[in-house]
Amino acid sequence: MLRIGVLISGGGTNLQALIDAVDGGILDARITKVIADRPAGGLKRAASAGIPAIMLDRTIYGKELSERIMEELKGEADIVVLAGFLSILGSSFVKAYRGRIINIHPSLLPSYGGKGMHGIHVHEAVIAAGDKYSGCTVHLVEEGVDTGKILAQKKVRVVPGDTPESLAKRILEEEHSLLISAVKNMAKSMEDKQ
Ligand code: GAR
Repeated sequence: MLRIGVLISGGGTNLQALIDAVDGGILDARITKVIADRPAGGLKRAASAGIPAIMLDRTIYGKELSERIMEELKGEADIVVLAGFLSILGSSFVKAYRGRIINIHPSLLPSYGGKGMHGIHVHEAVIAAGDKYSGCTVHLVEEGVDTGKILAQKKVRVVPGDTPESLAKRILEEEHSLLISAVKNMAKSMEDKQ
């Protein structure tokens, strides 16, 4: 069965969607470890689900963070899902898991991606630009920030009166199903290769 390592930095609603999909039999996989790079609300969700979870504080590990995460995942994860993970993984991590790291991003990449473009900053920029649409993207992680192959996208309309927060909320709801379907597809393609 596919083993998933999940990296988080925040509240972990995408992690929760993965947990629920596994528990509900929608996703034939096991979440083997959850790693946060800061004190993240999602760690509690992992603990409640009985999933081994640890925090590797980015302010302590600095440049060594990726290596430490890799050590923790060694032999335990077939794929790695970045579910609201805000640190940038080093090239040796990307090399070790190439084609097997999935990220969810709250915009229609390649728009509003790259360093500094994450979470609420993305939605602030979309609203400031007066865009009519935003959305979310699931993509493979490569060395460049938010540049890997796009696996799936979902468009979300920006409505009059939207604030960064209201837009973030509507997009987040779409992220959950998009992430599950992308992970399912990856699981299937890995199975087919075996
Ligand atoms: C999500 O909106 C995710 O797309 C975003 O952080 C949020 C995490 O929410 N990720 C990025 O901005 C990555 N560049 P969650 O902790 O509730 O899953």
